[in-house]
Amino acid sequence: MLASRFRAPTSQLSLFSHRRLASAFIKETMRLTPVAEFIMRPVVTPVSLAKISPDFLPSPAPLTIPAGVLAVISIKDIHTNPAYYSSPLQFIPSRWDAQPHLVKDARAFMPFGAGSRGCIGSVLGRTIVER
Ligand code: HEM
Repeated sequence: MLASRFRAPTSQLSLFSHRRLASAFIKETMRLTPVAEFIMRPVVTPVSLAKISPDFLPSPAPLTIPAGVLAVISIKDIHTNPAYYSSPLQFIPSRWDAQPHLVKDARAFMPFGAGSRGCIGSVLGRTIVER
């Protein structure tokens, strides 16, 4: 079925839908198999997670990461967390296209890392992969 959906485009419209499908396919691949499974950040000042994002806490208790530790952020775990994705372990490219409700929190997609030290080549990287 997938093969027939990826047939060579014959018009501008099918070229557009071909690109959309390919983009969704690549995003889902990057979600389930991120090149960088984790990133690290040295913690310079204490970080209160409750202050940053109460939604992300597993319990209402405030959690503070002390200064001086190395925080390891697992992109793979975030990408497969049922709190952020429905059926998180299933390969469903349409969650990035026709079924957006299967992505509960788009902030939880970070194959290029996040924040001020996120990947500076993310646009180029995406373009190269999608061409
Ligand atoms: C599909 C392709 C790529 C993927 C999946 C990728 C992924 C990543 C990830 C996960 C990080 C760490 C971000 C963080 O710590 O928050 C990173 C950093 C970085 N990437 Fe990429 N990358 C890609 C392509 C590229 C390209 C094409 C370039 C340059 C032309 C590039 C340049 C960099 C640089 C310089 C950093 C370090 C940024 C910093 O520490 O401030 N990347 N990349």
